[in-house]
Amino acid sequence: MSLSPLAILLGVAACAWCLDNGLLATPPMGWVPWERFRCNTDCTTDPENCISENLIKAMADRLASDGWKKLGYEYVNLDDCWAAEKRDAQGRLQANPGRFPSGIKALADYVHSKGLKFGIYSDMGNATCEGYPGTTLETVETDAKTFAEWGVDMLKLDGCFSNSSFKAVGYPKMSAALNKTGRPIAFSCSWPAYEGGLPPKVNYTLLGKICNLWRNYVDIDDSWDTLLHIIEWYGDHQDTLQPVAGPGRWNDPDMLIIGDFGLSQEQSKVQVAMWAVLAAPFFMSCNLRTISDEAKDILQNPLLIYINQDSLGVPGKRISKSRYFEVWKRPLVNGQYAISVMNNGTDGTPRPFATTLGRLSVSDCREGYKIYDVLGKLFMGEYKLNETISSKVTPTGVVLLFLKPLC
Ligand code: GLA
Repeated sequence: MSLSPLAILLGVAACAWCLDNGLLATPPMGWVPWERFRCNTDCTTDPENCISENLIKAMADRLASDGWKKLGYEYVNLDDCWAAEKRDAQGRLQANPGRFPSGIKALADYVHSKGLKFGIYSDMGNATCEGYPGTTLETVETDAKTFAEWGVDMLKLDGCFSNSSFKAVGYPKMSAALNKTGRPIAFSCSWPAYEGGLPPKVNYTLLGKICNLWRNYVDIDDSWDTLLHIIEWYGDHQDTLQPVAGPGRWNDPDMLIIGDFGLSQEQSKVQVAMWAVLAAPFFMSCNLRTISDEAKDILQNPLLIYINQDSLGVPGKRISKSRYFEVWKRPLVNGQYAISVMNNGTDGTPRPFATTLGRLSVSDCREGYKIYDVLGKLFMGEYKLNETISSKVTPTGVVLLFLKPLC
């Protein structure tokens, strides 16, 4: 069948903005400063924690030397507050000279020398959320070119200080501009988060073509409340959100806050389990110089990462919700599954939970499945389809199961 010239034209036109970078076949993993270090620019009294080249280099050092990189945590990203108050004489963004004396290119080179990737932040608007220069419609091309010249591997484009029509033009324009640089730069779009995260205001078909990942919803804070609120939102809107994600295009429920101050050990497990089941980016935002062994152990669990990085790239869905328990299920390659059982109760005692493979609708393999407790690092045994699987789930805690078919 030959295509008519009109069909070809429409095809080309429809894809004029398309990102064509082949990146992020699985969700990105790495480190971002925002949730933990915010917009701390006080390098005089707080040199260890201010947003500076030293902080980024220190985290790159830790990623490379403390076992993170080899597990897949490869992006070291900047967030807001890296830029100088003004563009340079040529109209290009430039780094704050006091906190980034060597400049961004040198910083990207340093990160690359550690075998890692480097991400940067800008904002599709007149200013970033913290008031630094934004990317306007006039500067999109210049900024994309500057980032490519610096050796940037990922761009997070925020959406403060602009309106819906500005964004509707700006995000596709940046996607095309990134393409034009010829450098593969993963594109993280905060666009949907500024439009309520849902259709009809958000067009996920378009987003899937122009962005590699997108923040759908509110910012995470260092608390169980925000974490649970975000999980519930993804569950409540899963019929819209689950189908739009896949290889090269991911929903981003925001940073991992494990290793910070707000979550208990059990709540930390909830976040990683749910982010693995949601096929969400694993962007840590914690202090990797001082992270506890317990937090590190949760974040460096190989089977957890295997689930998160599953090559099928199908996010999971909530399959049941009762007074205390939510059960989520993600199909994985080779007929495997991940099942997350979350206990939302707060009445201080581990709550018994029992089910069967049949009830979970995991029955493709009639011989049954091997079951692993991922975060408990335990092989639970082989189960037939009608055999009872029982476990106890701590308050505001989770049991993440990995199911491997015996067929
Ligand atoms: C917004 C984003 C956050 C962070 C800040 C920076 O709130 O959603 O992730 O980038 O801006 O100012």
